[in-house]
Amino acid sequence: MKQIKLRENVFIPEIGFGTWKLEDQELAKNSVLFALQLGYRHIDTAMSYGNEEAIGQAIKESGIPRSEIFLTTKLSNDFRGRDATFRAFEQSLQRLQTDYVDLFLIHWPSPKKYRDHYKELNNETYKAMEELYFLGKIKALGVSNFLIHHLEELSTQVPVSVNQIEFHPYFTDWETIEYCQKHNMTIEAYSPLGRGQILKDPVIIKMAEKYQKSTAQICIKYALQNNIVPLPKSQTTKRIQENLNVFDFEISEEDIQILKSLNKDDGKIGSHPDYADF
Ligand code: A2P
Repeated sequence: MKQIKLRENVFIPEIGFGTWKLEDQELAKNSVLFALQLGYRHIDTAMSYGNEEAIGQAIKESGIPRSEIFLTTKLSNDFRGRDATFRAFEQSLQRLQTDYVDLFLIHWPSPKKYRDHYKELNNETYKAMEELYFLGKIKALGVSNFLIHHLEELSTQVPVSVNQIEFHPYFTDWETIEYCQKHNMTIEAYSPLGRGQILKDPVIIKMAEKYQKSTAQICIKYALQNNIVPLPKSQTTKRIQENLNVFDFEISEEDIQILKSLNKDDGKIGSHPDYADF
């Protein structure tokens, strides 16, 4: 699989394995282990997913050297500011059974309980992440769910390398994507399959038939061809395999435009970053 160079000169495999909703520990461990055995080398988790321990265990049991796996976790909304960030980060490392993460993200820009002073807290938090970066405990720094104004509010010494946002044919925030790509940030797509809800779209079904691929594979390829790193989640072995099998076809430019036209005003499935209820 191709690796994309992040601005810190760190390489990220262009497809990651998403683990949101893999809450059952045994299922999470087995799914990640299976993904690693199949060839995934990029695992995306978060403190709030409640599966860091299971993922740490899967990595250990896989026998694959830690240095060959790109591991991301995210700071949950409970923690902001220097001390809390350090504390939470160390706990994540322990659960993941590792002494560094490849990518560490602020999960949401404006946690409900800190909403009245989220900007200063994000700056303090990001500074703490920079300290961890300089100590070599984080290889690349990023954010998730950040809109342009959140990015502009952040003052950084080590520029933001990654912004992980919702992206699929029904929801594409081109304004944020273009801003980030222009500023040399890599976009990662969470819910690249629209949480499975868009896979019955007749246009996507027709396209899947044309390319003799599945609708999920069309969505994954759509992200890749927009220079976006998709993080498809599955707990089904056949699908985990299918979602990696996207390197034997190319969607034509004309069909990419058709997929772009599926973008809808109400296509967003996840919460709005400014108004999330958590
Ligand atoms: P499951 O985990 O039961 O396999 P997203 O990555 O956009 O959040 O989508 C995840 C959802 O899509 C999950 O419900 C997952 O189901 C489903 N899914 C993942 N891969 C496929 C696939 N190849 N075909 C159909 N559904 C899929």
